[in-house]
Amino acid sequence: SSCESLEYKLVLHMGFNLISGIHSPEVVDQIRNFEIRDSDVFVITYPKSGTIWLQQILSLIEVKGDVTATNDQLNSERVPWIELLNSEKQFVSAPSPRIHVSHLPYKFMPLGLKQKKGKVIYVARNPKDVLVSYFHFHKFANMLETPKDFDTFFEKFMEGNVFGNCWFEHVNGWCSHNDEMNFLYITYEEMIKDLQSVVERIASFLGRNLTPQQLNDVVEHSTFKNMKNNPQANYQQVPVILLNHQQGAFMRKGTVGDWKNYFTVAQNERFDKVYQQKMKDVPLSFIWDM
Ligand code: A3P
Repeated sequence: SSCESLEYKLVLHMGFNLISGIHSPEVVDQIRNFEIRDSDVFVITYPKSGTIWLQQILSLIEVKGDVTATNDQLNSERVPWIELLNSEKQFVSAPSPRIHVSHLPYKFMPLGLKQKKGKVIYVARNPKDVLVSYFHFHKFANMLETPKDFDTFFEKFMEGNVFGNCWFEHVNGWCSHNDEMNFLYITYEEMIKDLQSVVERIASFLGRNLTPQQLNDVVEHSTFKNMKNNPQANYQQVPVILLNHQQGAFMRKGTVGDWKNYFTVAQNERFDKVYQQKMKDVPLSFIWDM
């Protein structure tokens, strides 16, 4: 079939894997020098940490919870990936407030952010669940190589041989520079626990005044159940050359602790050892189970 003839592959660019046929290294290199406006917002995630969830929440906050105003656009059209822009011109000509998501590591990001221009929201998720979610995503996404089995993927993730590279470096790279930027750190797990309060925190960080009813509407249309039934949030119209809808969905499970259904005892011990070593100087903690 036509899908099989497509050659997407990871290509290392300045130490970071880009997906050939999807990302342009030229555009990625230009991002550092993009001129930043105070009203710019960047949501940064390692893949599978809640990117689409944030696209949903932010686009709804901008329309004060009115879901009818967002329903005709894919989440990625409302809040695009900066690394998927066609050109700098597209960024320059976009009206304020420009809101983007990105999976890029800190070193690629606009230097203006360090002058406290714009705002950054970093969303982190416990990396064991990230790994499991990413395993499933590799079967679903045709631009990523389908892993032979879970064990094979576990190794790839531990080696950082995936798009996003090493999880530990991604989170440390961003979070160790937090005080240079207007920076809000949130976790997937606290969103699962209390979405309302995270939505309130985001709105207040962005300086958006919503009534309690409008905030409720944002929350209501951002629940897993409602997003699962929302074709735009699930990227259902995205063609099969990119997403194999028979093999999965963006709204897969949406829980904390699914890793327990996949990790062997040995894998878990190994993961914990690496985690303790890589995170020993990082003041972050995660919820592993609920
Ligand atoms: P699972 O595969 O564990 O279900 P990303 O958008 O960064 O690719 O992340 C996708 C992950 O976020 C998936 O995790 C998906 O189910 C989860 N997710 C997206 N929206 C969610 C929501 N409203 N509530 C809970 N989880 C959500």
